[in-house]
Amino acid sequence: MRRQIAAANWKMNLTLEEGKKLVQGILDAKVSLSEDREMILGVPMPYLKDIKEQLKGQAHIHVSAQNVANHESGAYTGETSAAMLQSVHTDYVIIGHSERRGYYGDTNEILKEKMEVTLKHRLKPIFCCGESLETREAGKQNEFVEKQLKESVFVFSKEEFKKVVIAYEPIWAIGTGKTASPEQAQEIHAFIRSKIEEKYGKEIADETSILYGGSCKPGNAAELFAGKDVDGALVGGASLKANSFVEITNCL
Ligand code: PGA
Repeated sequence: MRRQIAAANWKMNLTLEEGKKLVQGILDAKVSLSEDREMILGVPMPYLKDIKEQLKGQAHIHVSAQNVANHESGAYTGETSAAMLQSVHTDYVIIGHSERRGYYGDTNEILKEKMEVTLKHRLKPIFCCGESLETREAGKQNEFVEKQLKESVFVFSKEEFKKVVIAYEPIWAIGTGKTASPEQAQEIHAFIRSKIEEKYGKEIADETSILYGGSCKPGNAAELFAGKDVDGALVGGASLKANSFVEITNCL
């Protein structure tokens, strides 16, 4: 059963009070969710525990961290380990977001380590991949994304990979208002699924949720999700308002 997912990425926005209000707005909308139609809220680290508590009894709304340390524990001032995330009942971790790669030096090798500690602590990774405008214009997006997947994700076993959600996020579409066309999204999602099939087999490839990210909003969600390999979205800006995130979820 391939899950359709609306995942919010709040990034470094909102105070705790504002975040709780947003969650309440989402809950008030009573979106119909199920085993195969879920919501994930990627909230700032200090709010994970509160938001998790606020979501008590919601079987299909999960919380996610937006990052994790690549080390298990120790003298790494300011970092948050996978064990810490697990201890406050975090469900998912966003790994490899292009803002982490671009501003904080997360390389494919570091991201592999982050995947490793995340899986070890039974958290589910949302692994982000995606190319720059320059790479897209050179027509090299497929090989670029394949390399990201090969070096950080395809090193894990079948059993481990089953826990992974992939988010394809072209850098040129993130926070820019430019969205990949439904055809562009479908094309590269199908490519990603074919690579998963090559590595892990058809059954697992069919089960893997591949989300699109980059200026997804209520006005374009339905046409993006119409692609047969587009299983939802990782949403930044439009996830900061309950009504727009709910509208996107209703398009799943
Ligand atoms: P955006 O961000 O929806 O604001 O473009 C998406 C993301 O960075 O995950």
